[in-house]
Amino acid sequence: MQADSGLLAAPFAFARLAAILLSMPLRILCLGDIVGRPGRQILHQKLAGLVRERAVDLVIANAENIAGGSGITANLFHKIRSYGVDVITLGDHIYRKADIIPTLQSSERVVRPANLAATAAGRRFTVVSTAAGIPVGVFSLLGRIYMNLPADDPFAAANWVLANLPENVRVCVCDMHAEATSEKVAMGHWLDGRCSMIVGTHTHIPTADARILPGGSAAISDLGMCGPYDSVLGRRKDRVLKHMTTNMPHSFEIATGDVRLCGALAEIDPETGRALSMERVEIKGENADQAYDSDDKTPDREKSE
Ligand SMILES: [Fe+2]
Ligand SMILES: [Fe+2]
Repeated sequence: MQADSGLLAAPFAFARLAAILLSMPLRILCLGDIVGRPGRQILHQKLAGLVRERAVDLVIANAENIAGGSGITANLFHKIRSYGVDVITLGDHIYRKADIIPTLQSSERVVRPANLAATAAGRRFTVVSTAAGIPVGVFSLLGRIYMNLPADDPFAAANWVLANLPENVRVCVCDMHAEATSEKVAMGHWLDGRCSMIVGTHTHIPTADARILPGGSAAISDLGMCGPYDSVLGRRKDRVLKHMTTNMPHSFEIATGDVRLCGALAEIDPETGRALSMERVEIKGENADQAYDSDDKTPDREKSE
């Protein structure tokens, strides 16, 4: 009799556990532009521990500078997935290494900016599930102010994405990849109350404005980079200074000193999609032993954010 009761109770206990898991705050970590081998190294060294310590449910990272400082390869896509990155966003350097194009077309774990031309390779948004089964929408946008790659209206593109997300998706994250702080802050307000987390990337310097906006969205103007900070935006400071002080061309190689992992961590209510907390994350690593390895393919030694 008791055994029968236990058997009958089991499905109810499981349902209750599932309900508890589905209503627990979701912890989403977003990482800024991963720059070259030093950026890859610190992810490899620190990400798994951070995910464990902070009980992170989903990791989203911008990887537009991961291969030699500009672009991403299929090999590096798989490598950082194995380090614990769940979804990859990109930016103006998205197509610098063409071997990523088949992955952009086939994988649900990477998105291209939603406001590129309709015919540009890659998906405009993706929906992935956390281990607890909560669907999360992810998309990115390119700014139009001081950006080299022409793009359509990011505000209209954001509306298009939100209108096309499946109805069961209550949690979504937007990576606003832009040069101008004004455009990134404006996008935060445009999406406030409609998108759970709006994070800026591209300028490689973390900003101090991590906050929850009045409508309940977590926002920050720039996550900063995962890469070498004893540099100018990830490039060797001596090379950049030579160029800036002489106007003569110099190759901008990846720097190796003061490598840090930078991003932001938000807690999101999965029922409402609203943020409960938002904080910057910054972890100091070691200097990188070298700037490049064979995974970098053809390093890009020009200035690039
Ligand atoms: Fe960029
Ligand atoms: Fe970048």
